[in-house]
Amino acid sequence: MRAVRYHGYGGPEQLRLEKVDVPPVAPGEVLVRQEASSVNPADWKFQTGWFRDWVPLPLPFVPGADIAGIVVAGGEDAGFGPGQAVIGMNPVHCGGAWADYVVATVDSLALAPKRMPLARAAGLPLAGLTARMALFTHGGLTAGQRVLIHTAAGGVGCLAVQLAKHAGAEVIATCSAANRDFVTSLGADEVIDYRTEDFSARLRGLDLVVDSIGGDVQRRSFAVLRSGGTLVTLAPTPVPPDAAAGRDIRVRTVAVTPDGDGLRQIADLAEEGRLRLPVDRVYCLEDAARAMAHSQAGGARGKIILQIQDQQQFGPDWG
Ligand SMILES: NC(=O)c1ccc[n+]([C@@H]2O[C@H](COP(=O)([O-])OP(=O)(O)OC[C@H]3O[C@@H](n4cnc5c(N)ncnc54)[C@H](OP(=O)(O)O)[C@@H]3O)[C@@H](O)[C@H]2O)c1
Repeated sequence: MRAVRYHGYGGPEQLRLEKVDVPPVAPGEVLVRQEASSVNPADWKFQTGWFRDWVPLPLPFVPGADIAGIVVAGGEDAGFGPGQAVIGMNPVHCGGAWADYVVATVDSLALAPKRMPLARAAGLPLAGLTARMALFTHGGLTAGQRVLIHTAAGGVGCLAVQLAKHAGAEVIATCSAANRDFVTSLGADEVIDYRTEDFSARLRGLDLVVDSIGGDVQRRSFAVLRSGGTLVTLAPTPVPPDAAAGRDIRVRTVAVTPDGDGLRQIADLAEEGRLRLPVDRVYCLEDAARAMAHSQAGGARGKIILQIQDQQQFGPDWG
């Protein structure tokens, strides 16, 4: 089968499209013929070697966390069967999804939403699970609460805005001016152009902030929270112990993990037409290096998709 691999840390230029064996399937696992995957910033962060001291990758390494394809073998005990369309997520440091075939554990998969082309649904798993964990598992968001979502135009943000609205929250979002209409169309009640306005000067008394940036944005985010509010961060750097300056603010850090049950709920919303997956750009597997470089350059509006099989199956624009 074809697989994108790298043999050393560095940049996208390290990526090669190579012929490798189809991975073996063990009990509790499913072999999936991949229709598509997507690019997540963690793919290139691991590739640069940022995390190599904590999580060294087995080289050569096949990147890719997002699974969207057709079950070929395995999973019968968990109700999966050959021919079923599924979506799923492998941990980023396990990868394997940028290939014709990938193996995943049964508890990391869900049936794909029929309403959404499989190639588009490839953008749902990691970003959707991250948004869900941030808002609900860690953030405890409930109807009527007010939440600030940073990087609202990105892969996680565009899903987080929609999920928070479905939960009945009031959503305030940050993005650049060029993405204002896009983020509004996702359901944001208030959009702040972070390049021209300091959100921390405008907002007060929020219940939750989803911080995907860290650093100065995180530091200023504490000021907009009410006493008893929650800051959930996706940034890998530890939050300074004195960051809340003695105020009663809960701080939680997200490290997204596969979650078949959570993914089922995300797929259900997509199936009902209540969750869109905006796509910035689609690349073929041969162009994986360009896709990774695109993500690394920043500024993607929605998800970057890697189409692994026939491009024509991508379908109409559901974004
Ligand atoms: N901890 C975890 O488990 C976990 C999981 C997933 C993602 N993450 C991290 O979360 C971050 C976001 O992930 P993603 O997949 O959404 O990335 P992404 O799709 O690459 O996000 C790109 C978006 O970020 C926006 N942006 C950049 N700087 C901004 C700022 N200062 N304020 C508001 N928007 C800004 C850009 O929009 P504009 O053009 O409008 O600026 C662009 O649309 C990444 O750093 C990723 O590594 C962590």
